[in-house]
Amino acid sequence: MHDLSGHAPSPPPSFEHAKNRRQKARAAGLDPNYWYAVTQSSKLRAGEHTEVKFLGRSIAVFRGQDGRLRAVENRCAHRHVALTAGEVVGCKLVCPYHGWAYDGDGNAEIPHDLFGHKQPNIRIESVPVRERYGLVFVFPGDPALATTRDIPSIPELEGPRPWPHAFVQFDCPGHHSMLLENVSDFTHGFLHRKYQPFSGTDLLRCETVGERVEVEYRSRIAAGRLQDWFIDRSESGCDHMLACYDYPYHWSNTDDRIKHFLFTLPWDEGHNRHIFIFYLRPDVIRVPMLGWKLPYWLVSRMMRAQRVLTLQPLLGQDVWVIEREQKGWSQFWDRPAPELSPVVKAFQDLTIRKWQEYLDGRGRTAEAACGNVVSAKELVR
Ligand code: FES
Ligand SMILES: [Fe+2]
Repeated sequence: MHDLSGHAPSPPPSFEHAKNRRQKARAAGLDPNYWYAVTQSSKLRAGEHTEVKFLGRSIAVFRGQDGRLRAVENRCAHRHVALTAGEVVGCKLVCPYHGWAYDGDGNAEIPHDLFGHKQPNIRIESVPVRERYGLVFVFPGDPALATTRDIPSIPELEGPRPWPHAFVQFDCPGHHSMLLENVSDFTHGFLHRKYQPFSGTDLLRCETVGERVEVEYRSRIAAGRLQDWFIDRSESGCDHMLACYDYPYHWSNTDDRIKHFLFTLPWDEGHNRHIFIFYLRPDVIRVPMLGWKLPYWLVSRMMRAQRVLTLQPLLGQDVWVIEREQKGWSQFWDRPAPELSPVVKAFQDLTIRKWQEYLDGRGRTAEAACGNVVSAKELVR
């Protein structure tokens, strides 16, 4: 039942009480026992800190004056003030209230009068943190598992001459599953008709293999006029894409020439932060009409320009529309939502399965855990 304004009478159901695939996907979290990119390294210089969230759990990430990253729960043990209200001093994060100072292991040093007590042994949780490919990663799950899983390998971005690449980072007011469905679904080219990042949407294959959904599309990539001019299609049409939801990441490979990696951080029940890395084989760019290849340094600069001219505004359209999808979901979650794409369904199924496995692995029933994303944050504490 809806009232006259069209609002659903209650909030969307929990994971346990969800009645269909979409409701389940929208209530699912992401398994915290993976490495999640939280920001770009360049946004966190020595002496700086930032707050990031994983399913509502606040984490303070800071870089000491020695250049090394640390991450701790964002809560002073004394009176629970957020540590990101404070500042980095040396290699510690200092609470602004009484000056308790926390090292990267979460150990507190109390600087004021102890009234005859010995320096107490007080510690908050620390969170494994690493840096790779110009990104900061945290492991929000069980720290003991952090060494058993690795950050995904992107060999093209390693070594002295990584492929020219560009980062695009967004804070997106929508559930993480909406973003993953968006990137899986080539039928939304209408939204991007101005930029035309792809043209043609022939789905050749969609297959779930273990923790991965593999999708092949026949589609002309970078079909917009500006990009099309510069892409050399003489050796390959750049029109065959393998795209994978490689849980919890997403990546694509077009003819071994144009690739992307997408890292999604489930911030809370209605927000995600995501970071794309787009990278090109350097010789895929040519001078329009003349066909000359461009030098590596120039391709790198062009990627930076592309970020501003095309990638950022293009992906901003997705963020814009996902915000509206989130609003529609909160109002009309109980209305039918016909889904035609088998890819979207496969992505949802993997998200649901992995979240259920995580809940089962925690030895809790979905009922006890409540299952929705709001409650999911309790699980990762
Ligand atoms: S509240 Fe943080 S030092 Fe007192
Ligand atoms: Fe899009």
